Amino acid sequence: MFDLKIDTTSKPEMYADLVSAARGLVEGERDPVANMANIAALIWHTLPDLNWAGFYRYHGSELVLGPFQGKPACIRIPIGSGVCGTAAATRLTQCVSDVHAFPGHIACDAASRSEIVVPIVRDERLVGVLDLDSPLPGRFDAQDVAGLETVIEAIAKSLTQAE
Ligand code: SME
Repeated sequence: MFDLKIDTTSKPEMYADLVSAARGLVEGERDPVANMANIAALIWHTLPDLNWAGFYRYHGSELVLGPFQGKPACIRIPIGSGVCGTAAATRLTQCVSDVHAFPGHIACDAASRSEIVVPIVRDERLVGVLDLDSPLPGRFDAQDVAGLETVIEAIAKSLTQAE
């Protein structure tokens, strides 16, 4: 079993450790679902104040629920809908401090108050999104955006179906 404990004092340090741990977890493994499962668990056990952490995969013309930690969630999200569908459509990270103020937010867990969604793009193709929810308003800031984008960039290849 992997030791997931990351002890750090600052967010940038924590994300630097998270990037290293994420790289280590996916090293040598090309199954994207297995890798998404381990990364969701790593994030869930590393970042405080989350109530959902996981992936939606781009499949056909929509996002389909992938490996996650937290309560059961909506299975299919059209591109352009909600926070996840907006991140997928724009290919830009969505950092939402108050989900109730986000037009079209899809409430999978009523406890969610803030959310961050990072698109996963490889070779200019959309692979899916990483979605984190928090019960705290304003839980995510620019350091979380930068840190999570770095994590995703570092492991995007391992989250992509081998051709
Ligand atoms: N809130 C998301 C839906 C996914 S759940 O948060 C797990 C959205 O608006 O796209």
